[in-house]
Amino acid sequence: MICVRHPGQDGGAAALEDVAGATDLREGPDGVRAILDLVRRSGPISPREVAARLGLPLPVVAAVRRECEKRGLLTRDRGMMLSEEGLALVRDVLGMTAGQATECPTCGGYGIVIGKPLRPTLEALAEIERAMPTVDTTLDQSHSLPESTLRRALYLHHRGALDGRRVIFLGDDDLLSVACGLIGESEGGPRARELAALDCDPRLVDYLRATAEAHGFGLDARVHDLRHPLPEDLRGRFDAFVTDPPYTAAGLELFVSRGLSALQPGSGRHGFLAFAHKPPEEMVAAQALLARMGLQMREVLPGFNAYEGGGVTQTSQMIHLVATAQARATITGDFEGALYTKEVDPWLRAYRCQSCRCELLVGPGREFVTIEVLKAAGCPECGGTRFRRGRQVRAPEAEKPQT
Ligand SMILES: C[S@@+](CC[C@H](N)C(=O)[O-])C[C@H]1O[C@@H](n2cnc3c(N)ncnc32)[C@H](O)[C@@H]1O
Repeated sequence: MICVRHPGQDGGAAALEDVAGATDLREGPDGVRAILDLVRRSGPISPREVAARLGLPLPVVAAVRRECEKRGLLTRDRGMMLSEEGLALVRDVLGMTAGQATECPTCGGYGIVIGKPLRPTLEALAEIERAMPTVDTTLDQSHSLPESTLRRALYLHHRGALDGRRVIFLGDDDLLSVACGLIGESEGGPRARELAALDCDPRLVDYLRATAEAHGFGLDARVHDLRHPLPEDLRGRFDAFVTDPPYTAAGLELFVSRGLSALQPGSGRHGFLAFAHKPPEEMVAAQALLARMGLQMREVLPGFNAYEGGGVTQTSQMIHLVATAQARATITGDFEGALYTKEVDPWLRAYRCQSCRCELLVGPGREFVTIEVLKAAGCPECGGTRFRRGRQVRAPEAEKPQT
């Protein structure tokens, strides 16, 4: 236990290490430093906002908050706030004093603004998203927020991958193909030469087709399981692929491989990859895989994609990939391994509602992915928001009744 009042000669490093150690933070002491600095500049701030702005999972931020509170560094006041002791550590010991706001207040640093001419498109997209089929969590689906979907479509355009281009979407519960079609119909908007979308969920594919027809843009939407190679007529002829793969390493490799087999050969073609925020070691493994596939990671935008899940907004990073002349899919045949989070990481946690005593399972592939999501949504039986942590269960066993 370190005494924050007298942090010694280490410039506060021990305090940060202490919290990083107690929370098992994979980003280490620098991760704690980044959280305290953001709270200093923007507090009171909700843990959700901290998670989104720093690209950290919400439960991780919640754990750091608890440990910082225990050590008297943070207080709770309409969100996360530095205590006097916390402020002294951050300002006097860690030496963080800059107060000038230098980020763009309009675009959040991403350089994309949804201006007035695009308002009707945004409204149409929001309407379309409201009526779309419900999420199927066994396929790692979750719904993107309309502003986020439209911003993604504009991002493709800003990177030269939409206007006059052939674009394929591999899995599209985000309705990004629809957003791209809609902006092509708006006055002066970028119009793709061809849009195609593949998804294994027939409800979604029907919806994509019907929406494109109703709004008068072309979209070749097909039911296809990406565990099988692409239909022959879709191979080797697109300028860009867009994908939001299952949250697993296998999902990344498989969906990006299919994306590469859709691209025209040669350098300079584009890939757009929505990818969950991962700790540094897992990101290095992902980068190594992408490099092996001959893909340059040209840009990484943390927190760019926003999703709705159980009343809580989650974010993921947007990665812009550019193919080299050596780019090659590492999976070309059928894929038979475990793909979805539920298959790869089958552990769930049981929570008991303190009000009605019902038991709820929380974890990957469930309605409530984390306890924070459950708390925000409330108990589905009684609306209660207090839960007692219970047993850990392997996902297949969770289907059996409890004796
Ligand atoms: C894998 S999900 C993940 C997306 C989610 N928005 C997220 O937060 O990452 C993306 C899309 O891929 C589709 N999908 C999942 N498995 C697939 C498969 N084997 N073949 C084709 N599409 C698949 C899902 O139906 C969904 O529309």
